[in-house]
Amino acid sequence: MIAAIDIKVTKVERSKLSDTPLENVPFGRYFTDHMLEADFENGEWKNVEIKPYQPLLLSPSVAALHYGQAIFEGIKAFKVEKGEAFIFRPQENYKRFNVSAERMQMPTIPEEIFIEGMRKLIELDKNWIPAKKDHSLYIRPFMFSSDEVIGVRPSDSYKFLIILSPTGPYYIAPMRIYVEEKYTRAAPGGVGYAKAAGNYGGSMLATAEAKKKGYDQVLWTDAVEHKYVQEIGTMNVFFVIGDKAITPDLGAGTILEGVTRDSIITLLKDMGLKVEERPVSIDEVIDAHKAGTLKEVFGTGTAATVTLIRELRYKDYVMEFDTAKWKTVPEVKRRLDDIREGRVEDKRGWMYKI
Ligand code: COI
Repeated sequence: MIAAIDIKVTKVERSKLSDTPLENVPFGRYFTDHMLEADFENGEWKNVEIKPYQPLLLSPSVAALHYGQAIFEGIKAFKVEKGEAFIFRPQENYKRFNVSAERMQMPTIPEEIFIEGMRKLIELDKNWIPAKKDHSLYIRPFMFSSDEVIGVRPSDSYKFLIILSPTGPYYIAPMRIYVEEKYTRAAPGGVGYAKAAGNYGGSMLATAEAKKKGYDQVLWTDAVEHKYVQEIGTMNVFFVIGDKAITPDLGAGTILEGVTRDSIITLLKDMGLKVEERPVSIDEVIDAHKAGTLKEVFGTGTAATVTLIRELRYKDYVMEFDTAKWKTVPEVKRRLDDIREGRVEDKRGWMYKI
């Protein structure tokens, strides 16, 4: 039971909903009528407020703009077939948000603001949840340092916000992936396991160069030898090799502990597959491809859900896949969708009722 919290609510005078193409909405371009905002000042969270979605008024000296003390989460809410609304596993994102906050020397956020604030906000904007297949309401909680000082040190003040975006699929088609050996996303001791804004800014040059070569995204490799694979773009990565699904383990602190990753591991095990979380070298992937045992490659993430990889290129070696013949990925995605869209019993309590 989450403690009650006093949240001031100011509603919009006129909803923008009728101007928004919910039936065909791209990822992350439209935002709902309301947002939640809270301030951390003098060691405590205060001014928790739900109000009309609006610009922020910030001083140019705000620390986050200079030193990147900024973290975020991605969560989804669904309208199930009976018309009720649910959030998928928000407690896991709540825990991860506070892990990111600790890594970035930011204050943790209480559950009653993160979870209960999110629930109240979505309750207000629940007509914005698209009902269409592969659509959902994307929830973006985020926090940034807000001291107006340009000395390098953790801020004393922070802002926490939640905004909501009705959204369609993040990646539309199976992807072509370039195995990255020049740039690095994360190194041991770094911030790879945190959902820190800078991880995404730092990834854009490698992605842009891969795009110039005709690829959609990169497969990151480790910072030391560029030998062990880490993540694909903004997703965790899985390889189905023989009768096993293999995904890089979280031990080195370089990989984001994906909530979709965890859900997919659970569902793959339900399907009877052996799942191994361990270091995966690019040589192992290539050897499996040469031996004909590399069956399916896919990425998982909140935004992307489950995305098929149709080509993987390492140096001059190209691995192409006929994704239309795959069995594991469509089945595991169907099982996940069945839970999220309310067609099967939610045995593990993953759906949080709004
Ligand atoms: C997510 O999967 O929710 C992400 O955060 C990835 C991206 C949209 C930044």
